[in-house]
Amino acid sequence: MTALIIDTDPGVDDAFAIALACSSPEVDLLGVTTVFGNVGLAMTTRNALRLLALYGREDVPVAAGADRPLVFPHPHRARYVHGEDGLSGLSDSLPARATGLASTDAVSLLAALLDRAAEPVTIVPIGPLTNIALLLAVHPSLTGKIARIVIMGGAMAGGNVTAGAEFNIWSDPEAARRVLTEEEVPTVLVPMDLTVRCAVDQAWLDRLAASGERGRTLVDLTAVYRAHYRKSLGRDGTVLHDAVAMAEAISPGILKTTPLPLEVECGQGPGRGMVIADRRTTAAREASGERGGRRVDVALDADLDGVREHMITQLIG
Ligand code: RIB
Ligand code: CA
Repeated sequence: MTALIIDTDPGVDDAFAIALACSSPEVDLLGVTTVFGNVGLAMTTRNALRLLALYGREDVPVAAGADRPLVFPHPHRARYVHGEDGLSGLSDSLPARATGLASTDAVSLLAALLDRAAEPVTIVPIGPLTNIALLLAVHPSLTGKIARIVIMGGAMAGGNVTAGAEFNIWSDPEAARRVLTEEEVPTVLVPMDLTVRCAVDQAWLDRLAASGERGRTLVDLTAVYRAHYRKSLGRDGTVLHDAVAMAEAISPGILKTTPLPLEVECGQGPGRGMVIADRRTTAAREASGERGGRRVDVALDADLDGVREHMITQLIG
């Protein structure tokens, strides 16, 4: 069993990641924490509750976290990608969950779940990293209870929200830098360079929709999202960024990773939110007088068809 906590900003692709975790018998889903991102915190939290209700998970505690970035606020959300309510306008069509929010905030719930976990836990941040940076800042003694952090975020060669930055990192670069550069917790970064290559086609979605009510509901939630990606990719492709990261969290090694020192641009210029991977050899880096920094396992490749097949096999069950 893999004990997981998901930190999320649902979000259509977040919905597929949550569904993947709920559909995988090898996952022990300890909790879900929410963060601002694709839409505002109130809506991401409401969507998380309803997605868990869709999968019959009244047992999973949910707590709300940060409603804005650590340092510099910004109003930008991604409604143009996910719809006004974050789920193609269909959030209200999902079942309401009888069990409401936990009595604590997201960071307190993360800390409590880590503290009482019998084994180290995999944390899967698939939104801005604000909650995770706060967790690591306030509870450094708990890092030993974190098996891995598997993050969807970053772009090595061209972003989505700006020319150089990917949305999750760009939404809170200071938080991302704390997690990706300052900490020493085993971390996998799944950048959009790979998630875009794992895009699924209409046939994949049709197969999921035909698998039953939950599959059909998930596909219905992609209406606005699919139209956005058809336009931005210029082809029949829907990019389920967060589900690809979740596939790695559930099945370690399904993605091919390379250990790289990372930096996050936190200036206010056009490069804000960019993730810079240092691909120089150790010798070259040391020749320039730099000590080798902490390395993050960056997912740069995979058996793309294998990942797509793995995701749908798990979702169909
Ligand atoms: O850039 C894609 C990421 O930003 C995904 O996690 C999506 O849900 C948004 O949060
Ligand atoms: Ca997300």
